[in-house]
Amino acid sequence: MEEKKWPGPKGMIPEPERNAADANMHNRRYLDELLVEMRVIDALEPDLTLQLFGKTFASPIMMPAFSHLNKVGITGRTPMQEYAAAAEEMNLVNWVGMEPDEEYASIAAEGASTVRIIKPFMDHDEIFRQIAFAKEHGALAVGVDIDHVFGKNGKYDVVDGIPLGPVTTDDLAAYVKAAGDTQFVAKGVLSVTDAVKCEKAGCAGIFVSHHHGRLPFGIPPVMALQEIRKALSDTKMKVFADCSIESGYDAFKALALGADAVSVGRGILPGLLKEGKEGVIKKVKRMNEELSEMMGYTGIGDLSQMDSSVILHHGRHL
Ligand SMILES: Cc1cc2nc3c(=O)[nH]c(=O)nc-3n(C[C@H](O)[C@H](O)[C@H](O)COP(=O)(O)O)c2cc1C
Repeated sequence: MEEKKWPGPKGMIPEPERNAADANMHNRRYLDELLVEMRVIDALEPDLTLQLFGKTFASPIMMPAFSHLNKVGITGRTPMQEYAAAAEEMNLVNWVGMEPDEEYASIAAEGASTVRIIKPFMDHDEIFRQIAFAKEHGALAVGVDIDHVFGKNGKYDVVDGIPLGPVTTDDLAAYVKAAGDTQFVAKGVLSVTDAVKCEKAGCAGIFVSHHHGRLPFGIPPVMALQEIRKALSDTKMKVFADCSIESGYDAFKALALGADAVSVGRGILPGLLKEGKEGVIKKVKRMNEELSEMMGYTGIGDLSQMDSSVILHHGRHL
């Protein structure tokens, strides 16, 4: 019997052909199954301001840690530069993934507060060198995407010809030390076990993510958030999340369930590739409106009041 294809909400990323191992499909389904109760009496217009690592940002919706978008667009600039410029104009946190130093410097020069995410290179000296370079270029924070160790063949992955390798708790502690007074974030945490190891290593934050499906059958990051947040409740660790956050409604659900801030990833791609910075600004403005609408109707006045008890799954509070 042919399996029914999940239609997905209008305007969202079209779901690929059904593949049960594809964690992206499970993100979308889970996010869409989370419903919200209304607490409108006494509710006022919400404030979206985010305080993070000593700075103030306009919204908890952040740019993604993208990479490899280096084809020059009609403006003569790369999409990496364009979304960094959008972050600067909107006062959002900017994230950058695997980029050589020269590209990283040109992106950082756009002026946005930027977090540099470095691959878990087999050559640890390269990681230390890139941390130092990011610090010299005023990074808001640095990190490693610890969920990119293995490739689809189950061996250590190789990206752009560069071998990647394992990350131990001691490695993380060494990166934290090298980062010094710059905050260090581990990107790609999907369990309490790893979250606690990151905390022990001294990370300032974790990014709850599976990197748009690196782990077959990976649980939706939003499903992992509540337990992780609870496990870190006695700490000052910041918790970020991404994966299929495409609307302000998705963002709200992640924030209510324990994220301090979220990244919109592939959701910005259509606008970014078509209209550059302006396309990204349009997308995030709309997401901010949706987030504000949802916070207003649930009686959440600002980010400090986020409350998981407004969310229900299959008719039950989580
Ligand atoms: C083109 C592209 C490049 C990416 N490069 C990186 C990277 O270098 N480092 C990283 O940590 N994540 C990288 N990611 C993963 C994103 O940061 C994000 O975790 C993922 O796309 C999930 O969010 P989404 O479902 O909203 O797209 C990349 C994603 C895309 C689409």
